[in-house]
Amino acid sequence: MAQQDSSTVKRGGFSSGFGVLAATLGSAVGLGNIWKFPYLTGANGGAGFLLVYLLATLVIGLPVMIAEITIGRHAKANPITALKKLSPKGQPWWLLGAAGMFASFLILSFYSEVVAWVFAYIFKALGGSILTSDRNITEAAFNSLIGDPLQSLLWQWVVLALIGGILLMGVTKGIEGLAKKLMPLLFLLLLLLCAVSLSLDKAREGLAFLFHPDFSKITASVILTAMGLAFFKLSLGMGTMMTYGSYFRDDQNIPATTVRVMAADLCVSMLAGIAIFPAVFTFGFAPAAGPALVFITIPAVFSQIPMGQVLMVGFFVLAAVAATGAMLSLMEVPVVILHERFSMSRPKATLITIGALMLIGSSCALTNNVLANFKLFGLNMFDLFDFVSSNIIMPAGGILLAVFVGWIWGAEKFRAALSNNGTLANARTARVVFFLLRYVSPVLILLVMLKGLKLF
Ligand code: TRP
Repeated sequence: MAQQDSSTVKRGGFSSGFGVLAATLGSAVGLGNIWKFPYLTGANGGAGFLLVYLLATLVIGLPVMIAEITIGRHAKANPITALKKLSPKGQPWWLLGAAGMFASFLILSFYSEVVAWVFAYIFKALGGSILTSDRNITEAAFNSLIGDPLQSLLWQWVVLALIGGILLMGVTKGIEGLAKKLMPLLFLLLLLLCAVSLSLDKAREGLAFLFHPDFSKITASVILTAMGLAFFKLSLGMGTMMTYGSYFRDDQNIPATTVRVMAADLCVSMLAGIAIFPAVFTFGFAPAAGPALVFITIPAVFSQIPMGQVLMVGFFVLAAVAATGAMLSLMEVPVVILHERFSMSRPKATLITIGALMLIGSSCALTNNVLANFKLFGLNMFDLFDFVSSNIIMPAGGILLAVFVGWIWGAEKFRAALSNNGTLANARTARVVFFLLRYVSPVLILLVMLKGLKLF
């Protein structure tokens, strides 16, 4: 890939400040909040995990997010070109962009399958059969869905085709328009769910599980999982935020935007947690039910209120929309790389990406049925893709990004880029973030990874 930077390719971009915020938030908020956050919190002991996750978000997530967006905005190019532009001759930092492209295929493979379940649940909700707090019924419904290879695969391909269609419409119209309109509705519905859940018999137990830490449950692998979630939630470590950063306007205040995105994202996760755990304890579900948790619990909560069926349809529709914003941002990485580095038209790049995902992703669709006994390193394909991306590639990407900014790009250039050559007054923020990136984040991430992966 000796070809020179193709920065002459005409680029789309976000048209307004609110558009930037909405699209970045659209990438961050997704099934990570509604599905992954509750299931990991449940499986890793509750409040202790939540605490570590919060710390990881603040100390590691925020600086890395600022670094990624700043690099992207400064270079105004896809991750590979951006890193080539900014690194000294001969240093292969662009490999980070390539790793990001690989990671985005892994993540999309299992993510699109979870979105497939959400789609299937829209129709199950319409049918009404799952609207019950009887765990035998909700659990059986979920198991029959994931146990059926045909349904699992078809829904996944429907999801992928739909996302491809949206991407073919282009950056601004597709991503921005959708994200802007529907996020507030999801928020309202989650609030309603929380109110219902908090009125249940064992609401207290659920809240205690979520907010009263038991420190004995915090092990090295719990910490690694929490850090992985922090990366996953903010779409970090594999080029997504760098790509979105490249669509930011120069006068956008990056630290302010990231803090808002992080805060709003946390809110959505907390609401999802508060909606789910009281119900889990009241109806006798297992907090550690794994990926099934949300799909068996949410119907039980809706079964408790009038018009529950209609609202449940709405919930899964909005979950699908939230997931769509996240998937669009994930898919943007390979698409823009193929488009700008390999001179493909955007439509062609999109079609190739979707085609590849249909193939690779099918291993996740078939994980709970045809491939149920197929494991690598003791994990099935779904869990393996998730583990490798969240717990290895993204944190490793985070370390390298922090090292790149802290030791290669340097304080001067970072500060200039972050403040848009001094026009935005954020010199103090820049100094703190730079310090974290240079000395704190890389060491911390590395320690957590080594311990969590039991390498020392
Ligand atoms: N953050 C999204 C969510 O929580 C998922 C996501 C979108 C993502 N883009 C990403 C995760 C890039 C990792 C990397 O649902």
